[in-house]
Amino acid sequence: MKAVIAQSYVPVDQLVVTDAAPPTPGPGQVLVRVEAAGLNPIDAILITGRLRQVMPVEHPFVPGMDAAGVVEAVGAGVTRFAPGDKVVAFTHDTTGTLAELTIVADGPGLVHRPESVDAVTGAALPVSGMTAAALLEASGLTAGRSVLIVGATGGIGSYLVQLASGAGAEVIATAQPSALDHVRKLGAAHAVDYTSVDPVAEARRLYPDGVDVVIDLVNGGPAVESTAAAVRPGGRLVSSIGVPDSLDRDVTPVHVGVENGIGRLEELVGKVASGELTVHVSGTYPLADAAQAYADFTGGKHPVGKVVITV
Ligand SMILES: NC(=O)c1ccc[n+]([C@@H]2O[C@H](COP(=O)([O-])OP(=O)(O)OC[C@H]3O[C@@H](n4cnc5c(N)ncnc54)[C@H](OP(=O)(O)O)[C@@H]3O)[C@@H](O)[C@H]2O)c1
Repeated sequence: MKAVIAQSYVPVDQLVVTDAAPPTPGPGQVLVRVEAAGLNPIDAILITGRLRQVMPVEHPFVPGMDAAGVVEAVGAGVTRFAPGDKVVAFTHDTTGTLAELTIVADGPGLVHRPESVDAVTGAALPVSGMTAAALLEASGLTAGRSVLIVGATGGIGSYLVQLASGAGAEVIATAQPSALDHVRKLGAAHAVDYTSVDPVAEARRLYPDGVDVVIDLVNGGPAVESTAAAVRPGGRLVSSIGVPDSLDRDVTPVHVGVENGIGRLEELVGKVASGELTVHVSGTYPLADAAQAYADFTGGKHPVGKVVITV
């Protein structure tokens, strides 16, 4: 089978597409013929080895965790799926999805895909959608509450703005000037051009006592303390990147990862099928151009929503 392969830690533009041995599904596993695979920032971290001390990978390494396709074969004990089923998959730590075939565990990360959800749309959903759902839950947001979402135009943000505004929250969303309309259409009550306006100051102008929640998808570690300044006393600072153990103000820091949202994939696919959740794919690339896709995704081209590889 064809697969995108890194033989060692390399810059993303040095990925190659080559022949690889097809994987075989073991007990409790499903072999999926990939039709589309979504890109995520974690892929580039694993490809380059930027965090190899804490997140090492074995080489040759096939990147990608998100896929949509069709079941090719099932391993022993799998009864929920059969060859020919259309699926959406989060492979996590089985095999990479930028390949013609991938292995997925039979669990909450593998769900049936309705006819109305095409492969590109399905592949854009797992990591970003599940993380967005987990962030929303951790935020405690309910109708009438306010939230500043920093980094609202990317993979997670484009789902989170919809989920938060759908829950009745008043959303302030950051965006580049060209993406201000994007976040408004997704349901943001206020769109802030972060290239010319300080989002914290704007949130404080709109909510002088502070917003109930800040969800920061851009700043990790100590840098996130600056956005915590937009939160009212007693509120929450939620991040998918990392938070300090405590803050020097009465704000609760919460860190949420994709693992907190794996059980939400089926519900998310259902929301897409019903039209409740919109998937925005800014660009698709064929498998042969995966290196270029990652270079564009990570290299300041500012894609809005998701980037997807077609296989
Ligand atoms: N812990 C986990 O399990 C987990 C899971 C998923 C993601 N993550 C992490 O969460 C973060 C967000 O993920 P993602 O998939 O949404 O990434 P993404 O698709 O790259 O989106 C990030 C967005 O932030 C915007 N941005 C960049 N600099 C900004 C700034 N200074 N102010 C406001 N917005 C800015 C970017 O838009 P422009 O540059 O065009 O403005 C981009 O749209 C990443 O760091 C990712 O690694 C963690």
